Amino acid sequence: MIVIENIHKHFGGFKAVNGTSLEIKKNSITGLIGPNGAGKTTLFNVIAGIYKPTSGKVFLGDEDITDLPPHKLFEKGVLRTFQIPHEFSTMSVLENLMMVPGSQTGEKLINTWFNTNKISDEEEEIKSKAIEVTKFLTIDHLLYEKAGNLSGGQKKLLELGRTMMVDAKIVLLDEVGAGVNRTLLKTIGDAILRLNKERGYTFCMIEHDMDFITKLCDPVIVLAEGKVLAEGKISDIKQNEEVIEAYLGKGMKNAPKRND
Ligand SMILES: Nc1ncnc2c1ncn2[C@@H]1O[C@H](COP(=O)(O)OP(=O)(O)OP(=O)(O)O)[C@@H](O)[C@H]1O
Ligand SMILES: [Mg+2]
Repeated sequence: MIVIENIHKHFGGFKAVNGTSLEIKKNSITGLIGPNGAGKTTLFNVIAGIYKPTSGKVFLGDEDITDLPPHKLFEKGVLRTFQIPHEFSTMSVLENLMMVPGSQTGEKLINTWFNTNKISDEEEEIKSKAIEVTKFLTIDHLLYEKAGNLSGGQKKLLELGRTMMVDAKIVLLDEVGAGVNRTLLKTIGDAILRLNKERGYTFCMIEHDMDFITKLCDPVIVLAEGKVLAEGKISDIKQNEEVIEAYLGKGMKNAPKRND
């Protein structure tokens, strides 16, 4: 579904992404792991159109999407969540979700004078969609809560919910499980699996939690120093000497354990 060909992203002389080529297969939940500073988020920013790569190409199917801005990619169903959630904190969960679809009739000023019926129909439709999304994510009891009052884990669910307001083809999840308690992590994991199985979402997820990756991801791609170091099933990745070495070089904190 997404093919990345020899992407480089340099910041001055620093090579954050240094010749990465990989493929995210349709209907997969592909894991992207690697030590801190490996270039994972930078690569997501390149795919999602936030950074222009120094060189290299990104394809969605047959289409070259390398230089498309984020809103064009959004229209094509390429969505991302942020490592640090980007909610509108003074707005309710419902309002946050209703903000997402970009082409609402009401956003065109002229329509607020001449097309009021259309706007209210459309708004009702978006509202029921938002309610459905909160039910799916088991946060419907928080519909009218200000997003700023949500826990870290609930904010991550809201981030996931935003991707469900449009017809996503591929969702890039940046550490959606980080700092989330076990119960909410299970809710997030189940939602990802259901979106994948029932609605055909393709996911690529950056994650450090090995249990979470083992439960959800196949295949797993390991990035280190801006390059792909290994790719395959998580059970094989955990035995890979080069992968263990890459993590050891950066400290043991997030290293995969052989007997996980
Ligand atoms: N805008 C930027 N300007 C300069 N350097 C940057 C910029 N963005 C990222 N970097 C550097 O690029 C490297 C890769 O960063 P990136 O955020 O992609 O890592 P990561 O793999 O997502 O790490 P983590 O697991 O800690 O989130 C880091 O050394 C970082 O400091
Ligand atoms: Mg990151």
